[in-house]
Amino acid sequence: MAVYFDHNATTPLHEKIFEAMQPYMGSVCGNPSSLHRFGRLQRQAIEQAREQVAALMGAQSSQVIFTSGGTEANNLMVKGLSMDTAVQRIAVSAIEHMSLLQPAAEVGCNVDQIAVDGQGLVTQESLKQAINKETVLVSVMAANNETGAVQDINKLAEEVRAHDIWFHTDASQIAGKLEFSFEKTAVHAMTLSSHKLYGPMGAGALIVDKCLPMHSLLQGGSQEKGLRAGTENVPAIVGFGMAAELAAQELIERADHVRVLRDALEKELMQLGVVKVFSQQVRRLPNTLQFGVQGFDGETLLMELDRRGFAVSSGSACTSGKTEPSHVLKAMAVPNQLATSAIRVSLGRANTMAEIERFIEAMKQIIGLSNSAVMMAANL
Ligand SMILES: Cc1ncc(COP(=O)(O)O)c(C=O)c1O
Repeated sequence: MAVYFDHNATTPLHEKIFEAMQPYMGSVCGNPSSLHRFGRLQRQAIEQAREQVAALMGAQSSQVIFTSGGTEANNLMVKGLSMDTAVQRIAVSAIEHMSLLQPAAEVGCNVDQIAVDGQGLVTQESLKQAINKETVLVSVMAANNETGAVQDINKLAEEVRAHDIWFHTDASQIAGKLEFSFEKTAVHAMTLSSHKLYGPMGAGALIVDKCLPMHSLLQGGSQEKGLRAGTENVPAIVGFGMAAELAAQELIERADHVRVLRDALEKELMQLGVVKVFSQQVRRLPNTLQFGVQGFDGETLLMELDRRGFAVSSGSACTSGKTEPSHVLKAMAVPNQLATSAIRVSLGRANTMAEIERFIEAMKQIIGLSNSAVMMAANL
């Protein structure tokens, strides 16, 4: 049976969530903006989901703006912030998701990159260096999707607030994996994605402080406090709400489960002698392990693992026939050869120790096989 180890890419839909969504894909009909009873039922479902998402993230429901996912929430944050692009600047960490980096590059104002250290952390020093009196927005993700490195958002938020600058964090990966609160971290805005926490694709949110001057990227209706025009995706929003509620209930149990598996996997992999774990010295998401394998290519490893029934992700991308390391590992100054050998394993609630053991065996086989192939080639 194939084994799914790619939960940071997307998670399988939780059975209870699927059940909760079903009525809204069939029997319950109506536009949430309609005033009649059919519309009111849809509206109630959206408002309940808003409460559920707010409760998971320690926010007020009035601060939750539903979007189509994390990508749209990040775009809304950067492009929807009303600012004078001729004079104002934004500062973003070098390891943000592309859905933050690309709109930042296009928004028309100056963008300052916040450097990370070798473990993938933004330090207070690097933050200070990247901001000045023209900076209006800082964005640093709470946890990185590749390495799993968790930033000290509390500390960074303190620094940013001292300068009277808006602070946004992309919490798509940390939500549902570790406790993280909008109110406690004192950020001004936060991105979420439903399908990273066992909810459906097609829903996400920007949690946003009322004081932020924002405008909608879409025009046509006044949904979501005028910040996201368009009829709401009710089934997906209902699923997202349910996903948040379950994540809140099962947070510790889920984290403990994957941490035990991840730590066992890490220990075994380290014993292979050719593996280097990224962000190993800092706090990481409990389900995430990214590593490089000396002398191997990430895409080849991924395909070899896939052939043996394991779905993982590589940290590199093949562009025009050349393997390019990810921008995250580049920002961490990981040497190219090691960075292009990166594999990310991201575990989930249904994974088992037996799967970890089979994975180790597969890795040993791949590394062993390849070693003998190399030796054969050397003897020719
Ligand atoms: C950190 C981070 N932000 C944003 C996104 C985009 O989210 P979505 O797939 O919901 O658009 C992802 C997805 O991989 C992510 O990992």
